[in-house]
Amino acid sequence: MGRFYNSSIGKKFFVSITGLFLMAFLLVHLGVNSLLMFDDTGELFNQAAHFMGSNPIMKVIEPILGIGFILHIVYALIVQIVNWTKRPVKYSKWDQKESSSWASRNMIYLGAIVLIFLGIHLVNFFFKIKFGTVAPITYADGVKMHNSYALVAELFKNCTAIDVLYVLGGIFLGLHLNHGFWSAFQTIGWSNNDWRKKLELVGSIYALIIAIGFSIIPLYFLIKF
Ligand code: HEM
Repeated sequence: MGRFYNSSIGKKFFVSITGLFLMAFLLVHLGVNSLLMFDDTGELFNQAAHFMGSNPIMKVIEPILGIGFILHIVYALIVQIVNWTKRPVKYSKWDQKESSSWASRNMIYLGAIVLIFLGIHLVNFFFKIKFGTVAPITYADGVKMHNSYALVAELFKNCTAIDVLYVLGGIFLGLHLNHGFWSAFQTIGWSNNDWRKKLELVGSIYALIIAIGFSIIPLYFLIKF
């Protein structure tokens, strides 16, 4: 088992498994975030965000998510560095274009851009909610919770540069996932010649939903308010 994890394919396997886990998280995160656009009082989003942050299952999943992110980044970096060092004579640009997509050749750079975006995003929202002074709000059910809606809405309404950043973040994330989706299935062995085309299509649809879904939220606040 140890030999498998230390092998090149073992490390790629880890990148794929953690990547698929993160893709599932993104769908849930987008689902909750889309509520930002369906109730301008903010109660719907605040209640959902509070539920996600306080139920026991999410308390277990949150640290696993953090570890998943770290493992995905560390193992992807190791695989990439090994690739760079094993191939001192680079393929010509022409050969690469013939056999692979632009996104597949630039996954490490797309991942790095998404990581920078994620860092800024966590500073914008997550750390402020967890450790900062986001005002609490109490609804009719008497439960006190963070007014996360006010934090997100204020930022997206008042700062066009942040809106642009989130739209670009959504687009780069979509490009990263467009290749990552079917590539992950390929690495864990759940793809073959028959399935590859179907997985590529599902991956593209998934990536489009994520890119458009996350980008549309800042645009909604910018245009509507
Ligand atoms: C319109 C775009 C987005 C909005 C409005 C948004 C909103 C938020 C908010 C409010 C939180 C804090 C939740 C809480 O602690 O109660 C959060 C956390 C987080 N976001 Fe986002 N997010 C967006 C896009 C993204 C994207 C594209 C990614 C991934 C690349 C991402 C990854 C995360 C992670 C990892 C956390 C911390 C874990 C968690 O609290 O669930 N978010 N986001």
